Amino acid sequence: MPESVLRLIVNGRPQQLVAADEMTLLEVVRDRLHLHGTKDGCAAGSCGSCTLWVDGVPRLACVTLAKTVQDCEIVTIEGLAGWWGKQHAADAAELHPLQAAFAEQGAVQCGFCTPGMVMGGAALLRDTPSPSRAQIQEALSGHLCRCTGYEQIIRAVQAAGRRMLDEA
Ligand code: FES
Ligand code: FES
Repeated sequence: MPESVLRLIVNGRPQQLVAADEMTLLEVVRDRLHLHGTKDGCAAGSCGSCTLWVDGVPRLACVTLAKTVQDCEIVTIEGLAGWWGKQHAADAAELHPLQAAFAEQGAVQCGFCTPGMVMGGAALLRDTPSPSRAQIQEALSGHLCRCTGYEQIIRAVQAAGRRMLDEA
């Protein structure tokens, strides 16, 4: 099985490993780097639970070959608070406002969809500080949640957006 040296920056740290050319980014993150926050829901690009950022853009890690993101910057749910802290000179232990809002609004039930939802929602809020309900629905349309009915998730994104604007 052909292998290549893979270089990535993951949550601010350089990583180098030998990986089979057919390995997905999800397999690298979960199985090789042991970052299990990024979930493997369907492994087929249908549920959104594996969403992370590649060079700032939300991507489905389960349908992304790792070799195609050579030298890219990856942010997973484990690194989101650190990313936020760097952007806003926040305390290193502080959550991204959307993580806090998910907890406050009851948007986490079983939690399986939550990392992907948060990564998708945080990208939306970074680019669109005051999104409309339709924009939130559009941004999270590829994310499936079997527990919440979505309303609490939309409220969490709205609440985080308000807090981020207030604190800007
Ligand atoms: S695990 Fe990637 S979209 Fe479902
Ligand atoms: S909270 Fe259970 S799938 Fe969304």
